[in-house]
Amino acid sequence: MTHQALIIDCDPGVDDAVALMLAFGSRDLDLLAVTTVGGNVPLVKTTRNARMLRQIAGREDVPVHAGAERPLRRKPAGAGAFHGEEGLGSLEPFAPAKGVADGHGVDAIIAAVMARAPGTVALAVLGPMTNLALALRREPMIAKRLGPVAVMGGARSEGGNITPSAEFNIWADPEAADEVMRSGCALTLFGLDATHQVRATDARIAAIAAVGTPQAETAAAMMRFSQAVERRIVGPDAAPVHDVCPVAWLMQPALFELKPCRIAVETVSELTRGHTAVEFREASAGSLPHRWAARADAEAVFALIATSVG
Ligand code: BDR
Ligand code: CA
Repeated sequence: MTHQALIIDCDPGVDDAVALMLAFGSRDLDLLAVTTVGGNVPLVKTTRNARMLRQIAGREDVPVHAGAERPLRRKPAGAGAFHGEEGLGSLEPFAPAKGVADGHGVDAIIAAVMARAPGTVALAVLGPMTNLALALRREPMIAKRLGPVAVMGGARSEGGNITPSAEFNIWADPEAADEVMRSGCALTLFGLDATHQVRATDARIAAIAAVGTPQAETAAAMMRFSQAVERRIVGPDAAPVHDVCPVAWLMQPALFELKPCRIAVETVSELTRGHTAVEFREASAGSLPHRWAARADAEAVFALIATSVG
């Protein structure tokens, strides 16, 4: 069996952390690199956090490249309220033994994609889309050379989570998202409509914690932190673990139901900044170049996490 080559572009972030644990432990993925972006917390922290998680998972073979510090045009925002000031909830920061890899994250994405056969390198984007937008500006050929690009971003039926109409990752850098949507990449978006179906209930967190490895305990700690924040800020539901969705889909596509669509991003209005307009009607859209995740099999996603962190 050939393993899917993958780069994860992320801003850890408690749910990014669970997604990284899922990927670090997977036997189905050939994880080429992790690239970081400023998002939930500043770049210096997302990069340190990725290296901490890599060390906990014992995957120092995977390079971590630092990418863009700030969005294309907007001021860096941050979502520390949901992730804790350091980005990984209550996990005490430490200085990881292995450093940051040479080379900017944007160049690392371009180099990996250009070095391999067209269509073979997948990209999971779990934070603002700044790095991919910059990579496409620098080397437009990657749009057609990339394999599947699985993005956590956007919202349709669920409304927004940072504003009433926008999801955080798209809102944080709407110009980047807009450029990527128009680029011709093979994009599949896992927005809130799907990720709100993938919630870490107490029973699911306990099942992961029971696996007992450091990776499992870290993943469970991230979800417990999210759970407490969700109940304090949002409501009584279990917290969604957004960023695991694109990675889980790359490992097991059957866990999600996708719908062809065309997605446009609001970049002009401040009121609806970062809104994703998702059109499913081909006659209105002209063509349907993107895919939108509509349903997720949450039980199977959590079973996959439990296997990976074992
Ligand atoms: C997204 O925003 C971030 O806070 C999370 O890490 C996730 O990528 C959810 O809207
Ligand atoms: Ca994220």
